[in-house]
Amino acid sequence: MNGEIITVAVPKGRLLEESSALFERALGVSPKKLLDGTRKLAADAPEAGLRFISIRAADVASYVEHGAAAVGIVGLDILREEPRDLYEPLDLGIGRCRVIVARPRDAKPLPRGVAPRVATKYLSLAAHHFAKKGIPAEIIPLHGSIEVAPSLGLADAIVDITETGETLRANGLVIEESVLDVSARLVVNRVALKLHAERLRRLIAALRRVCGEAAAPKVR
Ligand code: PRP
Repeated sequence: MNGEIITVAVPKGRLLEESSALFERALGVSPKKLLDGTRKLAADAPEAGLRFISIRAADVASYVEHGAAAVGIVGLDILREEPRDLYEPLDLGIGRCRVIVARPRDAKPLPRGVAPRVATKYLSLAAHHFAKKGIPAEIIPLHGSIEVAPSLGLADAIVDITETGETLRANGLVIEESVLDVSARLVVNRVALKLHAERLRRLIAALRRVCGEAAAPKVR
């Protein structure tokens, strides 16, 4: 953290649009607009006393835990897959999706005693899920394109996130069960929270107000 500037790690990819809209409504600054059309990975909004850094979603928690950023936005799937020592003050209500178990639509049940092979990037969430059910699953680690694994004979099932269900349908998969309901969380570095208590309190309050607006039905 640099002087009075508070560094905020915003995830690239599917959360960027909604995160930027929240910051714009809460504080009048949009990280997307500041960073768009450039190869710069950091941009300052001096009027708000903030610096935004553009980080891969899976890395945001590391930046914040180690204090390279004071604040970040991270999906609950990532936080539960690899627990961190972070303050999690706010469910931002954006990036809603689910971690699910899915299988091929026409899959026959496995013979008794055969451990299902489960392809996933959520190694820990998947292992816990099947262990809790007493099923000795074989976890096959992948980094992406998980949905194609069953049709190629690599796995009997997958554990992955789904939002619209489009990718599952397009690959002949159906949801068997839910593992985790996901939304994006605001995370804060614990030391920064002490050093910049008042400013972070105000930042959290401003974001909370606009999240509340988004979630609550309009009263006329
Ligand atoms: C995620 C997930 C699915 C897809 C699901 O991938 O792994 O492939 O989104 O979305 P849908 O239900 O709306 O079709 P993402 O685009 O985040 O990229 P990834 O492959 O890098 O995880």
